[in-house]
Amino acid sequence: MKKKLLFLTFSSILYSSFAFTQSARLITEELKVLNEIGEKLWLSERNWRNFGKDPCRDEGDWHDFVKCDCSFDSNTTCRVTEISMTSQNVSTVLPSKFAELQYLQILDLSCNYFRASIPSEWATMRLSELSLMENTLFGPFPTILTKITTLRYLSIQGNRFSGPIPKEIANLKSLEKLVLSSNEFTGQLPVALAKLTNLTDLRISDNNFTGKIPNFISQWTQISNLQFQGCSFEGPIPSSISVLTKLEDLRISDLKSGASTFPPLRKMTKLSILVLRNCLIRGPIPRYVGNLRNLQTLDLSFNNLTGEIPSSFSLLRNVDHIYLTKNDLTGPMPQWIFSSIKNVDVSYNHFTWDASGPKICEQGTINVVESYSSSINIQDDIHPCLRKDFPCTKSDTQKIFSLHINCGGAEVNINNTIIYEADTERRGASSYYNAGNWAFSSTGNFLDEDHDFDDYMLSNTSNLYNTHDSDAYTLSNTSELYNTPKCDMELYTTARKAAISLTYYGLCLLNGKYTVKLHFAEIGLTDDNLFNSIGKRVFNVYVQGELKLIDFDIVKEARGVGIGVIKSYTVIVKNNTLKIQLYWAGKGTTGIPMRGSYGPIISAISVDPHFVITRHHRKRLDVGLIVGIVGGVTLVLIIMICLWRKGYNMNRNQPIEVDQMSHTTSFN
Ligand SMILES: *[C@@H]1O[C@H](CO)[C@@H](O)[C@H](O)[C@H]1NC(C)=O
Ligand SMILES: *[C@@H]1O[C@H](CO)[C@@H](O)[C@H](O)[C@H]1NC(C)=O
Ligand SMILES: *[C@@H]1O[C@H](CO)[C@@H](O)[C@H](O)[C@H]1NC(C)=O
Ligand SMILES: *[C@@H]1O[C@H](CO)[C@@H](O)[C@H](O)[C@H]1NC(C)=O
Ligand SMILES: *[C@@H]1O[C@H](CO)[C@@H](O)[C@H](O)[C@H]1NC(C)=O
Ligand SMILES: *[C@@H]1O[C@H](CO)[C@@H](O)[C@H](O)[C@H]1NC(C)=O
Ligand SMILES: *[C@@H]1O[C@H](CO)[C@@H](O)[C@H](O)[C@H]1NC(C)=O
Ligand SMILES: *[C@@H]1O[C@H](CO)[C@@H](O)[C@H](O)[C@H]1NC(C)=O
Ligand SMILES: *[C@@H]1O[C@H](CO)[C@@H](O)[C@H](O)[C@H]1NC(C)=O
Repeated sequence: MKKKLLFLTFSSILYSSFAFTQSARLITEELKVLNEIGEKLWLSERNWRNFGKDPCRDEGDWHDFVKCDCSFDSNTTCRVTEISMTSQNVSTVLPSKFAELQYLQILDLSCNYFRASIPSEWATMRLSELSLMENTLFGPFPTILTKITTLRYLSIQGNRFSGPIPKEIANLKSLEKLVLSSNEFTGQLPVALAKLTNLTDLRISDNNFTGKIPNFISQWTQISNLQFQGCSFEGPIPSSISVLTKLEDLRISDLKSGASTFPPLRKMTKLSILVLRNCLIRGPIPRYVGNLRNLQTLDLSFNNLTGEIPSSFSLLRNVDHIYLTKNDLTGPMPQWIFSSIKNVDVSYNHFTWDASGPKICEQGTINVVESYSSSINIQDDIHPCLRKDFPCTKSDTQKIFSLHINCGGAEVNINNTIIYEADTERRGASSYYNAGNWAFSSTGNFLDEDHDFDDYMLSNTSNLYNTHDSDAYTLSNTSELYNTPKCDMELYTTARKAAISLTYYGLCLLNGKYTVKLHFAEIGLTDDNLFNSIGKRVFNVYVQGELKLIDFDIVKEARGVGIGVIKSYTVIVKNNTLKIQLYWAGKGTTGIPMRGSYGPIISAISVDPHFVITRHHRKRLDVGLIVGIVGGVTLVLIIMICLWRKGYNMNRNQPIEVDQMSHTTSFN
């Protein structure tokens, strides 16, 4: 995998001196140091034999990773100035010997599997750029690094560093880019950070800080990229942010508390990405937002914004994605939305319907599901999906009482008993798809992705293991893990994913009690002790609007990747609609296995009733009953055979399916 380097490079300058100096040689001491490091890194893993050769002369095993400056001693001697050794599957501790390369300025060891922490010898290094991004380093913030005061770029993103950011960070006065995202840092941001006035790029997303976003952010007057997503800050966004007029990319999400009005961003005319998601922002969207003409992505979703969408929005010509999802916006829906080829998501709002409004929710790249207030009348020609509460307008005999979806995959027939319906709609940035008995609404595109098209479906790239039912497990944690029958494996080979939010609807279900099972398996990451296994996916799950899973991590729950896990809920459907929502709260890694890899995934959904149909639905009753009994008995048999084949003793650790089918076939 080719990762884009985060660093600006001045390597072109170095190259030019290199070009003239084929006769120059790397100084012996440094050649020796490289050899020692090479042996340490790869002796056992790779068959490096050319340690003695000179990488500055384009020879030997180091030459792919090393750049030299050969202008020493009248162009006869070279020194190593840059080492870039990314994605090499190196799995060891960081060699202290790097510190002996006195002229080393750039050290990029990103996307490996380096362990432990930073060697104390590194304190003497004079680096200007250091990336240790996406490794498995841990321990407190490496204060050693604050001694390398020459640093202009520092990334330790995607490791397991923990504890507070120390005040010594202020020593790094030359820092322009600081990336601390996806670690386990805690505590308040130290005031010392305010001293880093040359910062142009600061990313601290996906940590667990406390306290408010500090006022001193206004000190970073040079900043163009600021990312505070999912780091547990309290709001509000301080109004001192208004002076950061060089911002091009501002992402703040998921503030814990502290409601406020829209922050003052009027002067930030360079903004091209603006994400203020779930930041407890209330009141109207200021008109000037439509004058931020460089905007490409505008995400104001999951706030409490009120009033109308400013008409100035129609002037946002460069914008590709607008997310106003889940606010309290009112007024008529502006017409420019429908003449636009952009992705515009205005779902979950309170617009007032007028004759020019949409009549159905299938609107291409425009998502309008539940965008109108529940006071609009559902007439024949206006689909109920448009209304806030998504009422069912079908008669009881047309209603359904079970539902099975194979998310992101083709139809799957589990042993001629249960058909999991196909779910292969490709769109997802801002879309609503109705499959008849169910539907989904998907919001969000993957930011920072290297390629142009977004893929909202995942397939497994390696083998799956047997799944286990986490509820069965937690119910009886004394016994071994319970593996679900192999016959279900197919459900886990695909998944649907979303960048911000994904809501599945069960439509027109008969009211009553149901068992809802959400099937998950991590198929986007690996656990091979290579760089991909450093990835972490974390999201929240709501069922019927109720938060059921917070910071849900499939791998943690299933105890591995490629292993299914079922979360099972008893749900009472009162108004015929079932809603299952997955939401990305800005947590987890965002660059593994590729840039822009994050967001919730789900493999399959099953919904089965606890009841059997009453006389009122007689016609349905017969079918339902027969299907129920025949299906139930068949499934119990299948499961018994399955378990018997696997050598399970039926007397212990009963699978939940058996339990549940007895519900389905019993009257209550
Ligand atoms: C070293 O090489 C550079 C570039 O080729 C040249 O400009 C410079 O004069 C050389 N210096 C000496 C001392 O030869
Ligand atoms: C790292 O390991 C992966 C998986 O085994 C392999 O595909 C890749 O080629 C390796 N990369 C290098 C540089 O050895
Ligand atoms: C901050 O940036 C300015 C302009 O690039 C530079 O002159 C100054 O030396 C920098 N300060 C530090 C402490 O590096
Ligand atoms: C984050 O920190 C708070 C205390 O500040 C703690 O209650 C919570 O469990 C932590 N969350 C995680 C995911 O570590
Ligand atoms: C914001 O909206 C959420 C639900 O969307 C609601 O629970 C909360 O009370 C609202 N807060 C304010 C300040 O209106
Ligand atoms: C996906 O998982 C299934 C079940 O383990 C396996 O048969 C299939 O080969 C896997 N697909 C890939 C591409 O590895
Ligand atoms: C399951 O584990 C919990 C915590 O480890 C323990 O308190 C409980 O007794 C265990 N349950 C059984 C049935 O052993
Ligand atoms: C069901 O919908 C009706 C009308 O749409 C509404 O009056 C009622 O409050 C809803 N009931 C529940 C439990 O949500
Ligand atoms: C499901 O059907 C397949 C193919 O007919 C069969 O191989 C498998 O054993 C069945 N599973 C169970 C649990 O009976």
